[in-house]
Amino acid sequence: MKKLIAVNGSPRKNWNTVELLKSAMLGAEDAGAESKLIHLYSLNFKGCTSCFACKIKTREHGFCAMKDDLSSILEEIKTADAIIFGSPIYFMNLSAGMLAFLERLFFSNYIYSQEIPSVFPKKLPNAFFLTMNMTAENFERFKMNERLNFYYFSAERILKSRSKKLMAYDTVQFKDYSKYESSIFSEEEKHQYHDETFEKTLEDARRIGRELIQID
Ligand SMILES: Cc1cc2nc3c(=O)[nH]c(=O)nc-3n(C[C@H](O)[C@H](O)[C@H](O)COP(=O)(O)O)c2cc1C
Repeated sequence: MKKLIAVNGSPRKNWNTVELLKSAMLGAEDAGAESKLIHLYSLNFKGCTSCFACKIKTREHGFCAMKDDLSSILEEIKTADAIIFGSPIYFMNLSAGMLAFLERLFFSNYIYSQEIPSVFPKKLPNAFFLTMNMTAENFERFKMNERLNFYYFSAERILKSRSKKLMAYDTVQFKDYSKYESSIFSEEEKHQYHDETFEKTLEDARRIGRELIQID
């Protein structure tokens, strides 16, 4: 049976990012696959420590020498048929947890070789699901695609498959805005935008989950 791995790079286990990931998991299941959700913030791991064990000429490449909660997951990813990187935007970037995870996944499967930089053992269809406070207009205005482009490029190069992308803009961040200093936002407008768009974004997530599994 094919398998989709959905990686949650939000510390919150039931919010926007996870909602999209769970919808994609249903899509993968529609296509007859199984799926697994990994909450990065429940794991004990660090980013790459630059030991370069993965690049030693006499050792087999593609293995991260760090031993922590990510070790088995990095190996499991090699057996998956698709992966989705779900992350909130934090300070105009992926979350720190997602960045640390990508450092480990990408760098351990990359060698400084002119011929074949990727030692990842297969083509792995993949997608980035990003959720953020920003509106779609501000995403354009702040050239977010340019900021994030190197992650898309790295995923394509290492996992040998072009990344699909799904954005959820202007997300609802709090259950009750009145409890928090949040005067730059209009709770009413946030909810209105959510009600008008989120269902469609969930449908897109489900379609992407299905499509990733159907890529040969
Ligand atoms: C530490 C932190 C930094 C954030 N920085 C940004 C930002 O730079 N741009 C933005 O649009 N949203 C930013 N946000 C908002 C989150 O991206 C947004 O609420 C997201 O949907 C949260 O995902 P979740 O609901 O799955 O946890 C930030 C939130 C936090 C907690």
